[in-house]
Amino acid sequence: MSTVKMQSVRLPIDQNGNVAQLHGLGVQCFDGIYYAYGENKVNGGLFQGVVCYTSSDLHDWVNHGIVLAPRSTGLLATDTIAERPKVLQCPTTGEYVMFIHAERHDYNYAHVAVAVSDNPLGPFRFLFSMQPFGNISRDIGVFQDSDGTGYLLSEDREHGTHIYRLSEAYHSVVEDVVCLKGANYQYGYESPTMIKCNGFYYWFGSQLTGWDSNDNMFATASTIEGPWSEWKPFAPVGSYTFDSQCDLVLPLPDGQFLYIGDRWNPDDLGNSPTLWLPITLKDREAVLHWHDEWTYEI
Ligand code: GAL
Repeated sequence: MSTVKMQSVRLPIDQNGNVAQLHGLGVQCFDGIYYAYGENKVNGGLFQGVVCYTSSDLHDWVNHGIVLAPRSTGLLATDTIAERPKVLQCPTTGEYVMFIHAERHDYNYAHVAVAVSDNPLGPFRFLFSMQPFGNISRDIGVFQDSDGTGYLLSEDREHGTHIYRLSEAYHSVVEDVVCLKGANYQYGYESPTMIKCNGFYYWFGSQLTGWDSNDNMFATASTIEGPWSEWKPFAPVGSYTFDSQCDLVLPLPDGQFLYIGDRWNPDDLGNSPTLWLPITLKDREAVLHWHDEWTYEI
């Protein structure tokens, strides 16, 4: 184990000295190495491919280049939008399956695209896009339970935010397990992400304010089906989640939890900083703590 000193507001730099494109990111640990998949936003909001970075300490990142390349035409081409790439390894097939929010030139298409690879470093091959059970699908997240069952979290403007159970091969959805709207809120929460801690599921999400930050919320349950608690903020109200939008909450080997969020700069998306803060999860409460910098053992 070594001690890592983390600056809370970061523009992580890769091994080539470039700003790591860890926007709207997904992170998974495969064989002891952290793999992060980010939106490449160097040239603005349109799709420029998904970049993969690896790290052994979640601080220093090695860029492995584009692992889901833009297609020449149609969905996932460079005149479309694709956001929030998330990868799971399917335990039954061993395959790496990427889910990504896929739009055409504006935000009216609302599909989730599925791409696969035999290698976490890609290249990922686009399979198809879908609207789960006919529901629109905007911001997404993924979750793998301890028994290997995979889930897709997906915001659907009309009904709320869903948690769909994935098929054995993780290519499709087989059940709409739960769909929630926010507390006194007409929508479900977006940028959805979930983690299990001491037998409880913690579901996080943000309100729908585009690139602007807001007070992000969380709910808890002892089973994914629910009942789910009321949604509550986990950062000081009015801090707008310390001016960030949640991406992920990850367990650290030393027992702490790491919150990663985007502080979007719509005028320069590729240089939007990310927030890396400790979050306490205990007895169905979640509290995000501010520190300019902090340490963890890894
Ligand atoms: C947010 C969403 C981002 C991006 C943005 C565009 O609500 O979480 O991923 O789509 O809107 O305005």
